[in-house]
Amino acid sequence: MSAETRALAARFPRDFAWGVATSAYQIEGAAHEDGRGDSIWDEFCRRPGTIKDGSNGDRACDHYHRVDEDVALIASLHAHAYRFSIAWPRVQPLGEGAWNEKGFAFYDRLVDALLARGIAPYLTLYHWDLPQALQDKGGWVSRDTTLRFAEYAAEIGRRFGDRAASIATHNEPWVVAVLGHQAGIFAPGLRSQKAAMQVAHHLLLSHGIALDALRSQGCRAPLGIVLNQSPIHAATDSPEDMAKARLDDGLTIRWYMDALLRGQYPEDVLSFLGEDAPCVLEGDMDVIRRPLDFLGINYYTRNVSGTGAPLGPVQSGKEVTDMGWEVFPAGLTELLERLHADYRLPPIYITENGAAYANRLVDGRVADVDRIRYLRSHIAAMADALGAGVDVRGYFVWSLIDNFEWADGYSKRFGIVHVDYETQRRTLKDSAIWYRGLVGEHIGLHAPKVVGADAGG
Ligand code: FCB
Repeated sequence: MSAETRALAARFPRDFAWGVATSAYQIEGAAHEDGRGDSIWDEFCRRPGTIKDGSNGDRACDHYHRVDEDVALIASLHAHAYRFSIAWPRVQPLGEGAWNEKGFAFYDRLVDALLARGIAPYLTLYHWDLPQALQDKGGWVSRDTTLRFAEYAAEIGRRFGDRAASIATHNEPWVVAVLGHQAGIFAPGLRSQKAAMQVAHHLLLSHGIALDALRSQGCRAPLGIVLNQSPIHAATDSPEDMAKARLDDGLTIRWYMDALLRGQYPEDVLSFLGEDAPCVLEGDMDVIRRPLDFLGINYYTRNVSGTGAPLGPVQSGKEVTDMGWEVFPAGLTELLERLHADYRLPPIYITENGAAYANRLVDGRVADVDRIRYLRSHIAAMADALGAGVDVRGYFVWSLIDNFEWADGYSKRFGIVHVDYETQRRTLKDSAIWYRGLVGEHIGLHAPKVVGADAGG
């Protein structure tokens, strides 16, 4: 391993957790097996034109049948931690009522296999796969769904609370609310700002109710939530673009952070929303601001905002990934320092960071130098934030394996491990080998020094 990688590893404290991340619908497959119910993503994928390559998660990476192989793969990377999600419709097919023991058996097996290899299970309750039966009753637009979620959370806490290293309630509520209910490009495909904002409120509320439910039954795992966050930069320094950027900052960052950490929604956003502001009942904000044991941040790029174009990553004129997202590591440092300055933060985990690149498997090898560069520069940017006093405790590469990238289907490859979807063969990309090396250096730096054999006498 190069001196550069060793020097990078040396910038992290002894207990820093290095992990890899996935989510249920993106990898499990077995979508109609062992009693799993339909999720909104099964239903969304059936609608023509929703998924770029017309695919779905029916088979995905067949992880459901390859769980032992995949845990061995994680172990082979020396990863300390694995972030995954539970598919709610696999363990409770209708989202209320009967539990599905076969579904739980799968996650028992996964968690026990991880623990047997010394890998900490970081569990997410909701990575977007709502049981379709609940969608049929209104989904996240309906306040009742928050109660169903809390019941589900409590059951997971009861069964896994003493084995999970942490439990996150939601993954990226902004994406669920806005891409799912306003832009309509993710399940369930609604197009209404009013619905989206009500969903955003219900997701946060369900998070708070779930924390109460988990804590009241003595769940020992640290509890938190995962947010997607990107610094928003104004397209130009015109007053109009600056104002638009400030509003977009409110809609994407402050809406969630102010609610979770201060118990209020930002005034400027509420007045912009007007009639589309959500219905908030008395007491809701107190529930939402329950103490967090940790906050997960998913970071991929910065966003640029202005009156001339919709909010989004820079698409051209800069170095971009296969998603068309600008490679902008400095944004991670900027984001973390800003959140640290503006809020009283709990411990932070970078719960996702990574890049899609189209590198091919040639003679058994994937030479993804671009991904190595991306990972190295973002890990260095995270180290800069640590140096500035931000309490970052761990980092998870998105993703362990190539997988179903939502509306992009299988056309985008985020894995540090290549998946041949015909044979389901997994092959470490060069980036996986690099990451293994980084983690190995970190472990080596903090391993107890072996004293000479003659020292003891
Ligand atoms: C995040 C999602 C994750 C994956 C990455 C690329 O928004 O949480 O499932 O799709 O983006």
